[in-house]
Amino acid sequence: MALWSGRFEENTSNFALTWGASLETDKAMAEHDIAGSLAHARMLSEQGIISEEDFSAIEAGLDRILGQIQNGTFAWDGADEDIHMAVERALIADIGPAGARLHTGRSRNDQVATDIRLLAKELADDLLSENRALRDVLLDTAEKHVDAVMPGYTHLQHAQPVLLSHHLLAYFWMLTRDHTRLAAAYDAADENPLGAAALAGTSYPLDRERTTELLDFSATIPNSLDAVSDRDYLLDLEYACAVSMMHLSRLCEEIVLWSSSEFGFITLSDAWSTGSSIMPQKKNPDFAELTRGKTGRVVGDLVSLLVTCKGLPLAYNKDLQECKEGALDAADTLLDCYVVMKGMLATMSVHRDRMAAAARAGFTAATDVADYLAKKGMPFREAHAVVGQLVLSCEKRGCGLEDLSLDDLRAASGLFEADILGTLDPESIANARTTYGGTALDAVLIQLEEAREVLEADYLW
Ligand code: ARG
Repeated sequence: MALWSGRFEENTSNFALTWGASLETDKAMAEHDIAGSLAHARMLSEQGIISEEDFSAIEAGLDRILGQIQNGTFAWDGADEDIHMAVERALIADIGPAGARLHTGRSRNDQVATDIRLLAKELADDLLSENRALRDVLLDTAEKHVDAVMPGYTHLQHAQPVLLSHHLLAYFWMLTRDHTRLAAAYDAADENPLGAAALAGTSYPLDRERTTELLDFSATIPNSLDAVSDRDYLLDLEYACAVSMMHLSRLCEEIVLWSSSEFGFITLSDAWSTGSSIMPQKKNPDFAELTRGKTGRVVGDLVSLLVTCKGLPLAYNKDLQECKEGALDAADTLLDCYVVMKGMLATMSVHRDRMAAAARAGFTAATDVADYLAKKGMPFREAHAVVGQLVLSCEKRGCGLEDLSLDDLRAASGLFEADILGTLDPESIANARTTYGGTALDAVLIQLEEAREVLEADYLW
């Protein structure tokens, strides 16, 4: 018989009971459920709502249950609808009437909201530390290849040469903002719903501030209906996960491209790639592809929860039971992807020569030649046209802009002088971009220093 079966004359359909249960998913928050119950019971006894003896029995009983769950000896009963029922049933079986007093002034509605918030804080915390670890590896990788030149792209067409370190640092800053988003999701979850009871609060003299303190929440939710009925903090967490997956997915797409024969910029280590069952020569960037692929499911988790919550009247509705799996899935997926990304980046080899050669191809010096003319007084739009003509003639001759002689250049414009020679190689072009946030080595060194400082501050989070 279910713990709530008092007013029932017939049994609920077994199929419906099993179908409506959340026990399997709830196991992820078993420890949080017990922590919530311990805090509630302690507060009840401090308020004189239950006796100290009852509290001692409850505390010892919950401790035993926690131990059994942790060492795998807890007797799970498939008939229990959720973790709250499972723990309460085991407690009552163990300690009798004292156990039956635990649920005084409490409902599963504020209980589940408490559990999920504690779980969300833990998930966010784990994600925050893996995010920092990945950013550490990104910085190390950028430092290791600090002056390697590569083509910078727009529309995936060669645009202007950039430093690989600069390119990698772009991802560092994206992941830094992801850290901020995850931290905000942590803060959103960090408020105590316990004491809201079913929906309206309770007539028992609960001390809600006390459970806030005991459970290490930083605030007490001021409205009982809101406390039991919203899951927006999970949306915050899933949004942060989805955005970070999107960032990883972009980097993975680049890893897939860079490790192809066409690019040949990097080789992934054996430890972080796979082979083909039929083509002996193959080494596939599977884990980059899979990370890119898993972005879809995390975005799906976010959309799914948004749609689940839309249109729910106040306060608790059973629909909300659906919110846990997606949140766990999004967080677990991102956590693993951070680890995979770290492994791939830390062990990949970079082919500087291939990158530098590619940085030369596709007339990546064109902007600089036009800038040269503009700096000598030619209106930029006119310079753009002159260089366009030069590119066309190079294309016909099968050479690069840097291969043109001074005579070739002077035939296009009398403004060209000897000082243009030797400035059109990719290194010089990259190093000329000295603006703050630009790709010149000096600017990147400043950026690296700033990035280290930001990461150090995030470690104090
Ligand atoms: N298993 C439920 C959930 O996960 C717990 C709360 C159920 N409350 C209720 N009154 N049926 O949301």
